[in-house]
Amino acid sequence: MKRLNLLFIGFGIVGRGLAELLLEKEGMLKSRFDLEVKTVGICDLRWGTIVNDDGINLSKALKLVNSGKALTNYDSPAKRDLTSLEAIRETTSNVVVEATWTNIETGEPGLTHIREALKLGKHVATTNKGPIALAYKELISLAKVKGAQLRFEGTVMSGTPTFNLKWSCLAAAEVRRIVGILNGTTNFILTEMEKGLSYEEALHNAQELGYAEADPTLDVDGWDAAIKAVILANVLMDGNLSLKDVKRRGIRGISLEEVLSPIKQGCRLKLLVEVRRERSDIVAKVDLTPVPTTSILAGVSGPLNAMVMETDVLGDVTIIGPGAGRRPTGYALLNDILEISKHL
Ligand code: HSE
Repeated sequence: MKRLNLLFIGFGIVGRGLAELLLEKEGMLKSRFDLEVKTVGICDLRWGTIVNDDGINLSKALKLVNSGKALTNYDSPAKRDLTSLEAIRETTSNVVVEATWTNIETGEPGLTHIREALKLGKHVATTNKGPIALAYKELISLAKVKGAQLRFEGTVMSGTPTFNLKWSCLAAAEVRRIVGILNGTTNFILTEMEKGLSYEEALHNAQELGYAEADPTLDVDGWDAAIKAVILANVLMDGNLSLKDVKRRGIRGISLEEVLSPIKQGCRLKLLVEVRRERSDIVAKVDLTPVPTTSILAGVSGPLNAMVMETDVLGDVTIIGPGAGRRPTGYALLNDILEISKHL
């Protein structure tokens, strides 16, 4: 039996999505993969910290937080006075799940958490886009030096396979261009507005459903899509882009008229990400684009995401699937944990 000791840093929507899946799939992980996953700590700025190397009862922790109660109310033995960095250093965790919010300016606090875990040789599974967009090359070399794995499937298209698909089935293929709908919130807003909802109502619904970032300006101003473009460029196309290299346009304050008028021309308005090779450079942009209704991308509605990878051997490979939300993003982390256990 393989055993992993998990430390959650961040117990918001995504962290709890993973916790629910770990409980739901505990038996399957044992029987199908011979894998036992024990949680040794949860740290969250809002809900508090509980740490116990003998194990934390995840369903008790979930019950507390889901009913709005802090983890300090946890009624079993646990240390409660550690900072997240102390918890990374002092627990027997060998996998750190970093699921704090995305900070596109500094990557913090996620970047420091990930660096610290990797320095200690601990594997990392993260959905945090900031550190991967800002410091992928540094972090992946650190992971290699320390013999640790850095996995981040959920940073793009949540649990819909992106990186793992490229690294496994498309390992020998070159990606020449990527076009996609990679922000669930804006795609959801555009779809709802096509049904007649106002921009504000649609944004409110996206927040309620847990698609939007903690700061939804990241979604509506196109930052989230741009950050994903950077990650794809640097990870899948060996680029060296930063956010300032991505030409960007968002959908903030878009009117019903702007959304509905392309429909009369046989198009649907989509916020598209494009990353492509141009001679020896990689260029990327995020733009609001009318897409003919006959195109695959036009049929991608609501919080769904899609990515078309133009490859040298297979031509276009298209993936469509959930791009945001509690369960799909929790699943990305679960899959990262599984990949970690397979590559130990
Ligand atoms: N806010 C992001 C989105 C979450 O709407 O796509 C997933 O990265």
